[in-house]
Amino acid sequence: MFGKKKTKPSIDQEQLALIKAAEKRIKQKKRLYIHFVIFLIGAVFLILANTVLGIGKDLKIAGLEWFVIAIVLWLFLFIYHFISVFITHKFMGKEWEDQQREALVAKQQERIDQLTQEYIKEEKEIAKSQAYNQILDSKITPEKKTPELTIIVAAGENNAIGKDNDLIWHLSDDLKRFKALTNGHHIIMGRKTFESFPKPLPNRTHIVITRQNGYIAPEGVIVVNNLDDAIDAARHDKQPFIIGGGEIYKQSMTLAHKIELTRVHANFENADTYFPEIDAMQWKEISNISHEADDKHAHAFSFITYVRK
Ligand SMILES: NC(=O)c1ccc[n+]([C@@H]2O[C@H](COP(=O)([O-])OP(=O)(O)OC[C@H]3O[C@@H](n4cnc5c(N)ncnc54)[C@H](OP(=O)(O)O)[C@@H]3O)[C@@H](O)[C@H]2O)c1
Repeated sequence: MFGKKKTKPSIDQEQLALIKAAEKRIKQKKRLYIHFVIFLIGAVFLILANTVLGIGKDLKIAGLEWFVIAIVLWLFLFIYHFISVFITHKFMGKEWEDQQREALVAKQQERIDQLTQEYIKEEKEIAKSQAYNQILDSKITPEKKTPELTIIVAAGENNAIGKDNDLIWHLSDDLKRFKALTNGHHIIMGRKTFESFPKPLPNRTHIVITRQNGYIAPEGVIVVNNLDDAIDAARHDKQPFIIGGGEIYKQSMTLAHKIELTRVHANFENADTYFPEIDAMQWKEISNISHEADDKHAHAFSFITYVRK
């Protein structure tokens, strides 16, 4: 049951072709030999037919006995057969074909090598010119290529930012700061945050991100299908703002240059949306202004500005 596997005898294609060629060659030589024997017997028969049996005794062609002409013609035929087996075969046989093929393959390989070299050279040239164009672009239009993409957010100590598609607190000074900073700029937001507003905010260009096709928004609101398109739509603004919510903040953390954070000094355990952790390795705090709690503000908070390191 667990005996050794039988190994199949295997002959590769090259060997098989050689065997076939050898068989063909043997057959050709055999046929030539049979032709020679038949020719000899035939020649003797023709001579006897004429001289002994008297067949066509008086028949002469160009002054020669007919059987002499027949034997000479046959001899020519035999010589032709001989030549094709031993001489033509040598020039046009398998070896000759192989040599021709090898020469052709070598020529094609040479051409392929040449084309590959040309292709590599071309690729290098293209890469060089692309790099050159990028440098040129950044020199000509620096403000266009590097807008200061800024995240603006208010988050609790536990990074809570919202619940049931609404804010968890009301801090009038924070709203005033939000209005002052974003005034006149593009504000980029997720569809849910946009829908949490009673109406679009005045004097700001709204860019709403949604995966829905044909999302209907009020006049003047730009609707896009991904964050890249949103940033692109705001490319002429020197400081476009990412204003939330949780999903959009998460996606823009690696793209933003600045974070304007209002840290609300309380934990909001009942929240359902959070701001991502600010990685101290990547962000540097450049400003921090504290605001105590008072009769207009239920919580103390701090305005903190971070820039990317
Ligand atoms: N504290 C703060 O400073 C602050 C600021 C803003 C918002 N918030 C709060 O945050 C909450 C809302 O945040 P959220 O995370 O639930 O929603 P969101 O980020 O405002 O919007 C999410 C929606 O944006 C669209 N979207 C997200 N990523 C996309 C992408 N890559 N391509 C295309 N579309 C994309 C999808 O819209 P579709 O479903 O239409 O495809 C998705 O459902 C609310 O509670 C709000 O009050 C707080």
